[in-house]
Amino acid sequence: MNTLKNTAQSFFNHVEPAPPDAILGLNEAFKNDPNPEKINLTVGVYQDENGVTPVLDCIRAAEKRLIEQEKSKSYLGIQGSPEYASSVQNLIFGKEHPVVTQARAATVQTPGGTGGLRIAGDFIKRQFDQARVWMSSPTWANHPAIFAASGLVTKSYTYLDADKTGLDFAGMKESLSESRPGDVLLLHGCCHNPTGVDFSVDQWSELAEWVRSRELLPLVDCAYQGFHKGLKEDVAGVLALCDAGLEVMVCSSFSKNLGLYGERVGAMTVVAQDRSAADAILSHVKSCIRVNYSNPPRHGAALATIVLNDAEFSRRWQDELSAIRSRIKQVRSLLVSEMNSRTEVDFSFIERQNGMFSFSGLTPVQVDQLRNEYSIYIVGGGRINVAGINTRNIGRLCDSIAAVL
Ligand code: LMR
Repeated sequence: MNTLKNTAQSFFNHVEPAPPDAILGLNEAFKNDPNPEKINLTVGVYQDENGVTPVLDCIRAAEKRLIEQEKSKSYLGIQGSPEYASSVQNLIFGKEHPVVTQARAATVQTPGGTGGLRIAGDFIKRQFDQARVWMSSPTWANHPAIFAASGLVTKSYTYLDADKTGLDFAGMKESLSESRPGDVLLLHGCCHNPTGVDFSVDQWSELAEWVRSRELLPLVDCAYQGFHKGLKEDVAGVLALCDAGLEVMVCSSFSKNLGLYGERVGAMTVVAQDRSAADAILSHVKSCIRVNYSNPPRHGAALATIVLNDAEFSRRWQDELSAIRSRIKQVRSLLVSEMNSRTEVDFSFIERQNGMFSFSGLTPVQVDQLRNEYSIYIVGGGRINVAGINTRNIGRLCDSIAAVL
């Protein structure tokens, strides 16, 4: 049906426009909206009180050093920079963790966390053709499409309770009773996207045992390390899985925590049982990369490597990240008090959710109304980027939400 045809002297005239992307499409619509009071709560990009997505000071300093010291812009190896890979492992597992000291993990540098997920999908498809990828309902809008693009079957598991504000852990396990040994379980390391609802440390440990008993392969999307409690605290889930002796895949990103969004700096790590398994895995992952983008971009990863390996830059980074966390928490509290002063609906759950996103409880009709009548842009399922709120727009935002409730 989609054969190439040039009957009207054109191959392309019959091509219909594709629907806009669920998140980035809205961001484009926001940019085109002429309303000077428009508010953008769509794409997961941190904004400061002035609505600016800043270049972190630690990155500016690293960039200065890189410019002075960089010797070449030649290609990196297929898997990226080895120093970067080792920095990623140290950050996720800690330098002294057996996964690192026993060289049991293979890490490749990828173009953002999305690139890591796609390479993970391609690797899984090549090695475990029949594996199905189970993801939370809801999950990041791009997850199902990424794994489907790798040719994998995707399934969803229950995640939220009836109010859609907290976790339904029992319901999750119940819906996963249909999983088969060898299926992949996609988990969010912290700051679940789109809900902000996470597992407790105890639940991660329980999950580790449960995953083992069901013979599932955990794949952790770790895009927000440092956005909830701190860099160490936010990988407690990944470590619980590793400490239980499980093999794990981790996709990570410096888009958010180093503000390197457009530099596309991510990684895909496979934790195996020993070094020789990790080496064999790496050889296959490299062949997945070679046919996708050949080798990764070098600039952003070089910046991340400098920051992670310089004590002074790392300290600055921790301070800047801590300021980001504090601002997000303050905005959450302010949003709850502003909404509670305007409506009977209880918004206190927003303070219990973590990271950049909250599930607002707004219906698709209300979300549409906010966009069409008030130029307030929120992702379809009701996800709001809390970091897009500031003291100048919160009044108009809360008045408008109260008006559509
Ligand atoms: C988001 O969820 O908004 C971010 O992860 C950015 C994206 O690519 O969708």
